[in-house]
Formats: sequence, C-alpha cells, structure tokens
Amino acid sequence: SNQQTIYELAGGDPPFRALVERFYARVEADPLLRPLFPDDLEPGKEGQFLFIAQYFGGPPRYNAQRGHPRLRMRHMPFAIGQAERDAWVGHMLAAVDEVGFAEPVRSALREYFERAGTFMINQQGQP
Ligand code: HEM
Repeated sequence: SNQQTIYELAGGDPPFRALVERFYARVEADPLLRPLFPDDLEPGKEGQFLFIAQYFGGPPRYNAQRGHPRLRMRHMPFAIGQAERDAWVGHMLAAVDEVGFAEPVRSALREYFERAGTFMINQQGQP
C-alpha cells in the first residue's frame, strides 16, 4: 500500500540507531538508572534498537532474534517505580529531540514511550 510506516517516514534504521545511542549515553550517566542495567550495555542496546524499529513498522528482526517481546514480563527482574519510569521516559524524550525527528514521527514516538513507560512500572512507591 502507499501507507508509510513511522519507520519509513523517519528514514529507516539510521535515526533509530541514533536514538538508541543518545538514549544509552544518558542512561550511562544516570546514577538512578545505571545500576539497573548490566555492565555490558551493548546487547541491551541492540535489543532496544531492534525492538523500536520493529514496533514502528520496520522489519521483524526483534522477534526473529529474541522471540515475542513480552516487554512487561522481561522487565520484571528490574524494580521499576514512578521515579525510574520518569527518568527512563525523560531520557528517551530528550533523545527523540536530540535526533530531531519531524512530525508526525516525533509525536508518535513520544506518545508510545510515555504510555509504554507507564505500563512497565512494577513497584509501588513508598507510602
Ligand atoms: C531491556 C524496551 C521501559 C529498563 C529492554 C529491552 C527492550 C526494552 C526491547 C531489551 C530486551 C531484550 O534484551 O531482548 C523498553 C520499552 C520501554 C522500556 C519499549 C518503555 C517504553 C523501561 C523502563 C526501565 C527499563 C521504564 C527502567 C528504568 C530496562 C533494563 C533492561 C531493559 C534494565 C535490560 C537491559 C539489558 O539487559 O542490557 N527494554 N523498555 N525499561 N529495559 Fe526496557
């Protein structure tokens, strides 16, 4: 069809690679989030790239390499409360702006990360 995906509108792999690089640079410097991630950030970076590109209409490489995403389940080993969600989403939205995605791609990315970030919360805050 002539209906373009967000992935195609954005320009394919390169901007999504750039997004993940920017995001991980921020995570690496964040004292709240860095301890949740393993010493070697490269495998997670690749998984993140494959997933995001696939989710927005790119080739189904994440599923081919890692199976069904089941993201909420995959995040259960990490304690994710409101603060961790806000830090994660804040870094991703900043990375979106650093890469300079144009509309309507920018809003599609922002809306997804805000919503999916909230879905990943698995810890209540202190009462
Ligand atoms: C790993 C996506 C939110 C922390 C991953 C992976 C993906 C992903 C695709 C790789 C899974 C794999 O190895 O196959 C997402 C999406 C999110 C989200 C789409 C929301 C929009 C969060 C939040 C946190 C978080 C809020 C916590 C602050 C982690 C950690 C890993 C991970 C610690 C493991 C990285 C590694 O093993 O190297 N995430 N995530 N994620 N995510 Fe998320």
